[in-house]
Amino acid sequence: MEKLLFKGGRIIDPANGIDKILDISVESGKIAAVGEDLGSAGFKVIDVKDKVLTPGLVDMHVHLREPGREDEETIESGCRAAAVGGFTAIACMPNTNPVNDDSSVTEMIIDKSKAANLITVYPVAAITKGLEGKELSEMGELLQAGAVAFSDDGKCVENDRVMRRALEYSRMFNVSLISHSESGELSAGGQINEGYYSTILGLKGVPSAAEEIAIARDIVLAELTGARIHFTHVSTRGSVRMIEDAKKRGLQVTCDVTPHHLTLTDEALIEYDTNCKVNPPLRTKDDVEALHKALAEGVIDAIASDHAPHALHEKEVEFSAASFGMIGLETTLPLMLTKIVGNGILSLTQLIEKFTIAPARVLNINKGTLSIGSDADIIVIDTKAKVKVDTDNFLSKSKNSPFNGWELNGAADCVVAGGKIIVEDRKLVNLNPMRNV
Ligand code: DOR
Ligand code: ZN
Repeated sequence: MEKLLFKGGRIIDPANGIDKILDISVESGKIAAVGEDLGSAGFKVIDVKDKVLTPGLVDMHVHLREPGREDEETIESGCRAAAVGGFTAIACMPNTNPVNDDSSVTEMIIDKSKAANLITVYPVAAITKGLEGKELSEMGELLQAGAVAFSDDGKCVENDRVMRRALEYSRMFNVSLISHSESGELSAGGQINEGYYSTILGLKGVPSAAEEIAIARDIVLAELTGARIHFTHVSTRGSVRMIEDAKKRGLQVTCDVTPHHLTLTDEALIEYDTNCKVNPPLRTKDDVEALHKALAEGVIDAIASDHAPHALHEKEVEFSAASFGMIGLETTLPLMLTKIVGNGILSLTQLIEKFTIAPARVLNINKGTLSIGSDADIIVIDTKAKVKVDTDNFLSKSKNSPFNGWELNGAADCVVAGGKIIVEDRKLVNLNPMRNV
């Protein structure tokens, strides 16, 4: 493996409190040294003056559609989209067909992601068999097969007793349960946020309370069991208020937010754009402001894309028939650099923390740092790059993004995963010529 030396970049490594102009060297797939004026003999030298180097980003909430809907995304196409988006580690949700509630599925995902030979994929296994909310999956076996956390994402575990048991088991294994918090009784039939826009558009609404009731229940159960709970895609003011309180009381509660809930409101639905139909729904300006504040104050730990690919024929239909979800792997970094750092909501270092060490800690994975000896997952960000989002050029197999045409600033120029350059000049390097990548 080629030895790499990145010269003269601004190194941001929140896990180690580093924000400084330094060199980084990579040997045998690991970070070999971080320091001033490292010697270059024997290294391929890459000049990164005026660029920002960070750990490869970690996306803890991605839907790869394999097995089952390979027309929408495969493990390989998802890895390619992640790589050009700056992500070197992703966690994939279990709502595939078959569901990832069996170690054979977990193993298949890991094997296929290794064959794709790009980034690291961490399967999140189902809490309950078939995501039916009734019987717990074999959590021990799934962890042994390589799962890193559990979730019934897409659905809420509605039964209080089942959720309690799941938390008791996850505590025993010291892993996070990832809660998709939604009271099905309150959200049933809902299309968008319940409020002004649902009224004027004549669409059935999903009240904030549908999310908040589920979060309240899970905080109570986290306290009862002492387990770790992670709330994914939080979207309302009330949700972050309760999570802040739970954290203050010392519970093991963490949460993430999506880029779309940070940048769009339900006003985006005014023309019935089905690409803005997501679950939980886009909320109000007041909610978005609360999310920004919670992000800045550390109540929200991580940002995760909830990359949810859907085929054209599932989006180009009557609004009420369209699937929920939007893709995000290829827009998340530029969008967050532009709208969250650009608007002064977070510093660049804070943003990188939400994309690296924070999600890595939730998942107990050894990623998201530039510590000596850790996997050489590094990205080189050009914060001044001009990006015009064009879904025609996406590596994802799906195109369901409402950000198409947006002009953004900043992108990952170069991506290194496990010591190999996988993206150069914002383009995927052809590592698998036989596989026609
Ligand atoms: O919008 C969403 N899409 N939210 C979810 O929870 C599931 C996801 C999907 O799988 O399409
Ligand atoms: Zn979800």
